[in-house]
Amino acid sequence: MVDRYQKSDSTVEVIRSLEVLRRRISGWKQQGRKIALVPTMGNLHEGHLSLVKAANRLASCTIVSIFVNPLQFSPDEDFATYPRTLTEDIHKLAVGSQSGCHADLVFAPDVNEMYPAGKQQSSYIDVPTLASRLEGRLRPGFFRGVATVVAKLFNMIQPDIAFFGEKDYQQLLLIRQMVADLAIPVDIQAVPTVREADGLAMSSRNNYLDTQQREKSIGLYRAMYSLRDQVLQGVAPASAEIQLSQQLTEQGFIVDYLSVRESRTLQRPKSDDNALIILVAARLGETRLIDNLLFIRSPNG
Ligand code: PAJ
Repeated sequence: MVDRYQKSDSTVEVIRSLEVLRRRISGWKQQGRKIALVPTMGNLHEGHLSLVKAANRLASCTIVSIFVNPLQFSPDEDFATYPRTLTEDIHKLAVGSQSGCHADLVFAPDVNEMYPAGKQQSSYIDVPTLASRLEGRLRPGFFRGVATVVAKLFNMIQPDIAFFGEKDYQQLLLIRQMVADLAIPVDIQAVPTVREADGLAMSSRNNYLDTQQREKSIGLYRAMYSLRDQVLQGVAPASAEIQLSQQLTEQGFIVDYLSVRESRTLQRPKSDDNALIILVAARLGETRLIDNLLFIRSPNG
């Protein structure tokens, strides 16, 4: 089943079936083309498009997958209401569109194509330790869902290179570990977080914010920078975290975590760890926002 979305200047091929996908890709592989994959859940914004741009630069074929993955949503999360905007997404990925990037093919399977045995019966992938921290602790099953669907996409597409945003930093580390542990032959590339003019990290969930919440949301970005500055001035991370979490709470956030970690292991930093990251997740009303800030602490304090 192949759909073609016609634009005046261009066309993007949307493939929904694995069989058709494999046929198309094997043709490209025979031609020796380098294949890039950008996995997404759709509702594409500039953050996603920066991954597509990076893919266009480094590969001769770019495949964007669009699949709202039920396995990574818990029953109390927003699977049913997650924005599904396939037609708009496809227009952004057409050659010659204003986005300045394109997909050679969009893979948009339905749930049965992705989980033919049913999502409860399917085999799955767990990445231990990393998945138990921070985001994983708060969202049981989330990283299992992410690792499983990304591994499946890697098997379906067998890309040479795949692109992930630093915005979801723990997810990026987890994918890197999965690829290393399972010897999956794909090069994982990280792309920096794209932000709104005021610093808010772009996210499909930002659309849920009302005007007041949107104004408050910048507090998250400010809190990360204040925390970084305190740590650089020598304040113990644990006490700076408490103080800034309290400030966020006073501003109306419900803070899930605001934490300074070592940037590769996401463990609490030892005094001689220098590559650090602040990770934050907090809710404004029903909307959950996450962000992070990488920084270096110089060895001399
Ligand atoms: P989704 O939230 O749609 O994000 C797709 C990719 O875009 C992820 O790699 C994410 O980190 C990146 N991204 C999102 N916002 C970004 C921003 N502001 N700047 C840079 N990159 C950004 O993440 C997922 O989907 C899913 O978990 C997925 C990996 C597709 C598995 O289902």
